[in-house]
Amino acid sequence: MSLLIKNGTILTAASEFTGDIYIEGEIIRQIGTNLSVNASQTIDASGKYVMPGGVDEHVHYGSFGGRLFETAEAAAAGGTTTIVDFAPQEKGVPLLDAIRRQAAKAEHTSSVDFAFHAVIMDPKESVFEEVRHLPEVGVATLKLFMAYKGTAFYCDDEAILSAMMNAKDAGVTMMVHAENADIITILTRYYLSQGKTAPVYHYYARPPIAEEEATGRAIALAKAADCPLFVVHVSIREAMEAIRNAHNDGWPIFGETCTHYLTLTTDCLDKPGFEGAKYICSPPLRPQEHVDALWQAVREGWLTAVGSDHCALDGGYEGAKKKGTNFSNVPNGCPGVQDRLALLWTYGVCTGKITRRKFVELFAANPAKVVGLPNKGDLRIGADADVVIFDPEWKGIITNKDSLHGIDYEPFEGFEIQGRPQQVFLRGRLVAENGRFVGERGMGRWQKCKPYGLCYDYYHK
Ligand code: URP
Ligand code: ZN
Ligand code: ZN
Repeated sequence: MSLLIKNGTILTAASEFTGDIYIEGEIIRQIGTNLSVNASQTIDASGKYVMPGGVDEHVHYGSFGGRLFETAEAAAAGGTTTIVDFAPQEKGVPLLDAIRRQAAKAEHTSSVDFAFHAVIMDPKESVFEEVRHLPEVGVATLKLFMAYKGTAFYCDDEAILSAMMNAKDAGVTMMVHAENADIITILTRYYLSQGKTAPVYHYYARPPIAEEEATGRAIALAKAADCPLFVVHVSIREAMEAIRNAHNDGWPIFGETCTHYLTLTTDCLDKPGFEGAKYICSPPLRPQEHVDALWQAVREGWLTAVGSDHCALDGGYEGAKKKGTNFSNVPNGCPGVQDRLALLWTYGVCTGKITRRKFVELFAANPAKVVGLPNKGDLRIGADADVVIFDPEWKGIITNKDSLHGIDYEPFEGFEIQGRPQQVFLRGRLVAENGRFVGERGMGRWQKCKPYGLCYDYYHK
């Protein structure tokens, strides 16, 4: 099977030119202008962008109550061909086994390629030592949670520092969820005691200072361990500035933000009735001033990637979120894997906030580099033929009826969209067309990540 995509505007993080791409089997074999090759199929991509399939390095399929991998078709429909999921660790289960268990859920079910981050939920010396062995099972990133005290996810500073000391020797990239757990506990108790139970109090109980403090502490721990750090889902200006400043001082400190922090605000939590629960995620949605600061940060390269933090809660709004009796017991997380391309392009590229190349960097190239997947996120000879043919002229709106995430609501319902993936190829095979999944369920393959990813590319000043 071979495929020639002709006359498209080939768009990568590094360049943009009119040309052709020749794919044989699963791999990009040639890129150039006026390629003269015989292919079993030829597509004329005139007037379209031809870009790498997205890499979403922040999704929850199964962890945190997210629906499992049978809904990964949403990724394909939205132009994302690789997802990186979190493998939760049950108490007593070795980290490497936790990864294998999560991978078994994805294999033969996920319709896009998949990889994993480790998560420590049983913090003890033997588990910290296992961190050194993660690359043996193709995992090169590890997330620890400074928030969610009282659950198995929570880790204290000692645990984080111990993990960092082991991670850096093996080229494993540390990721943290940075929110001060004690501030959240006390403020949650306070608002509930005042009878303030509505979803918007999720924001007041997790104020910006909780994220600012924890981000500063995570950076301090990373400096103490001399360990690269990737702070996930940065949602406020102050946290972003702390990351930027540490990085500019010569420390290997990097950060990610997510689509919803670039497009939604705290007002969503204040919708009538209990509707705001649809938007409960952590950190919470922030006021517009933070949204503006985050756009500046992705434009300037102060934040490195944009993930979706996709978490389509099993049960959706009616069966999960609405079952909460107050803001503090609504399960956290929102879907978004299908919308990441559409929102970044429409509200980033089309508004002039980011360039097209920056878009590819944030959407595909950098996420692949952070997690250590050299054959993903780029159009390059020898790379996997994960390709999106993108029609920039299409106009539409996001609606839940077109969403494949498998729940009853869409946080971006009614958002106007400019452009969409006309065709999406996963390792040379067509998986999605005009927003519909047309591939085969389970065709995704486990991608083994390499250690010493992007966050290790630094030197001390
Ligand atoms: O609310 C969120 N973000 N849910 C998923 C878990 C996490 O903290 O990433
Ligand atoms: Zn998190
Ligand atoms: Zn998450």
